[in-house]
Amino acid sequence: MTQIRAAITAVNGWLPEYVLTNEELSTMVDTNDEWIMTRTGIKERRILKEAGKATSDMATEAVKGLLVKSGTAPEDIELVIVCTITPDMAFPNTASLVCLKAGLSKAWGFDLNAACSGFIFGLETATQFITSGKYKKIILVGADMMSTIVDYTDRTTCVLFGDGAAAVLIEPTSEELGVMDTELKTNGIGGQYLNLKAGGSLKPITAETLANRENFLFQDGQNVFKFAVKSMADAAEAVMTRNNLTGDDIAWLVPHQANKRIIDATAHRAGLTDDKVMLNIQKYGNTTAATIPLCLWDWEKQLKKGDNLILAAFGGGFTWGSIYLKWGYDTK
Ligand code: UT7
Repeated sequence: MTQIRAAITAVNGWLPEYVLTNEELSTMVDTNDEWIMTRTGIKERRILKEAGKATSDMATEAVKGLLVKSGTAPEDIELVIVCTITPDMAFPNTASLVCLKAGLSKAWGFDLNAACSGFIFGLETATQFITSGKYKKIILVGADMMSTIVDYTDRTTCVLFGDGAAAVLIEPTSEELGVMDTELKTNGIGGQYLNLKAGGSLKPITAETLANRENFLFQDGQNVFKFAVKSMADAAEAVMTRNNLTGDDIAWLVPHQANKRIIDATAHRAGLTDDKVMLNIQKYGNTTAATIPLCLWDWEKQLKKGDNLILAAFGGGFTWGSIYLKWGYDTK
């Protein structure tokens, strides 16, 4: 029997126009371009400033463009998964809002919260729905409006994050393409090092939580860094070893864009030179669930059908992992 696999058959991204540069940040907090570039590799990031706009609007723009690009009718989409930690509201879920705004009238959908690993967790999830044979057209979105949970008085975190969204279309294929293998992990250890304390059921927002700035993201950067460097590289190595892949077999490493130093360490361990590593952190910063699909979008024209890609991510939870993906198409 022919094996059905799940392939990415189109990708589209959307970014807000406003560019927040390191220079502007250095007028807001005690920082400078040299520190940010040396420690993170980030030069600028995009911020959604338009009043009344939120994560679902960025996701919707990415989805609408994806439908046009791939020549897909909105009503042909069966399932939408929106990976985000910055939903418009606690409920309804962002996927419902995207269904409404993008006219996906026949789809059902849900949000997936795995922080910076959202997209790879979502890709594995979508893969199961496709390979079961039940669904033929799934849209997977990574979208985060990090500017809504970043404390712009905290120099240790405000330089890191940006806003953005990107979406992929996932369809079945009987060719040797698409998701080949996955290695995904979650533990609760990361909760103490990377979290947003207030606004959930444990600590609803009160005057006190606001005064303590607990409605903003908290990160113990050094501890997260230590786990990230090891875990992302371990996961990529595990997936490559299991599939007998060496650096020579890989066309591209597609890493989560949190810190250029973490990306360099992962690439080094995978035996990959810089020219095989997708890196756009300098332009967008860390857009959480959107970083990996934004890379695929930026590099789409260079990708060839059958290219071996290693996706790797690490984020809050901790959540982390790696996916071996064979690219599904040549761009015309
Ligand atoms: O995507 C989700 C997962 N997140 C990550 O993977 C992020 C992991 N962590 C990191 O990328 C890094 O830890 C950071 C980029 C967040 C920080 O880099 P670091 O090399 O670990 O710096 P540090 O926290 O050890 O701070 C070094 C110094 C400190 O000053 P002192 O104590 O040595 O005087 C900080 O106060 O740099 C200072 N510092 C800054 N200086 C200028 C921290 N932030 C800034 C800043 N500008 N923005």
